[in-house]
Amino acid sequence: MKASHPLTPEEREQLASAAAAAAIHAYAPYSRFRVGAAVLDEDGRLHIGCNIENASYGLCLCAERNALSTALATGARRFRGIGVACIDAAPGLGLEGRTPCGACRQWMVELAPDAEVVIAGGEGRQPMAVWPVSALLPEAFRLT
Ligand code: THU
Repeated sequence: MKASHPLTPEEREQLASAAAAAAIHAYAPYSRFRVGAAVLDEDGRLHIGCNIENASYGLCLCAERNALSTALATGARRFRGIGVACIDAAPGLGLEGRTPCGACRQWMVELAPDAEVVIAGGEGRQPMAVWPVSALLPEAFRLT
């Protein structure tokens, strides 16, 4: 089976709930906006991350890049899915408060180009939207 075969509904739910669980550990004293991410590698291993803020605001690290860093540091190189959960987004807010920032999209294009991105929804943390990474950053910058 190809490494990038589509996520099953169960895997999408697993990514959404693992991301929501990781968000609990966010260090976000400035924005009070906790984000969690979970990355599923081709061997079925999950790697998690949360946002880590800093008093020097420009140094804040997003949950998605934290999760990808952790994954690479444990030897993972190919990824099938990335879950993102913004657990402090207002429940009534739609996707606009929950999608990955531009910097994280650029990381995804480079490090997880075949992955699907699963956005966790409000209360139930159920998947709210799923896109391939390629759809989130068309015409991405690459050096080949
Ligand atoms: N944040 C993430 O962790 N991921 C994103 O894709 C968007 C923003 C974090 C950064 C900051 O700590 C907080 O959310 C508010 O912007």
